[in-house]
Amino acid sequence: MSSPVKVSVIYYSSTGTNTELARTLAAEAEKAGAEVRVRRVAELAPDAAIDSNPAWRANVTATADIPVATADDVVWADAVIFGSPTRYGNIAAQLKQFIDTLGPQWQQGLLADKVYSGFTSSATLHGGQESTLLALYQTIHHFGGIIVSPGYTHGSKFVDGNPYGTSHVDSQGQTPVDEVTRTAAAVQAARVVRVAGALKAGQAGQAG
Ligand SMILES: Cc1cc2nc3c(=O)[nH]c(=O)nc-3n(C[C@H](O)[C@H](O)[C@H](O)COP(=O)(O)O)c2cc1C
Repeated sequence: MSSPVKVSVIYYSSTGTNTELARTLAAEAEKAGAEVRVRRVAELAPDAAIDSNPAWRANVTATADIPVATADDVVWADAVIFGSPTRYGNIAAQLKQFIDTLGPQWQQGLLADKVYSGFTSSATLHGGQESTLLALYQTIHHFGGIIVSPGYTHGSKFVDGNPYGTSHVDSQGQTPVDEVTRTAAAVQAARVVRVAGALKAGQAGQAG
């Protein structure tokens, strides 16, 4: 029997929206049959900044039990789903810093031939979600990764409207993750697991 697809959900979140998205995508990937790791990247901000925003401190406390991401979490996985809040239309520095530690693994070719996908949230509509995901996906080209975005592959994609990845407008924490976004996460996770499974089976066939 073939081993399950291994998925790492690796994310950054300040105020909890991307934590919620990460947990949702992880649960959906498990439902799709994957073995899943959820990992948060290391926080870089000083305590003074975190304490200036109660939602930020609450998220740090609530996620203390989630392991901090390491390079092995990427190398281990057949598929990696990265997530970050939109920051000026780009990914957060914390996630970029994690990605920038992957140089040795990149150099050894250990990041190539895997499936990658992304998710994000922003405060405002048209606030840069697509540019954030495209910025993330630029890096994946350098990895030699295989980008599996949801596309318009399911009827629900015409409702959430983002073919680049799951995204949510949180209105500065005023709009919680809703059914539309949860459905987007389910569609994305299922597609990632399905494609990564096919790729894994093909690679195993070539090796055999
Ligand atoms: C430095 C900074 C830059 C941000 N840039 C944007 C932006 O370009 N567009 C936007 O709509 N929201 C922006 N936001 C808001 C966050 O993207 C938004 O609140 C996000 O959903 C927070 O996710 P989190 O709860 O996982 O941290 C920014 C927030 C910060 C702190």
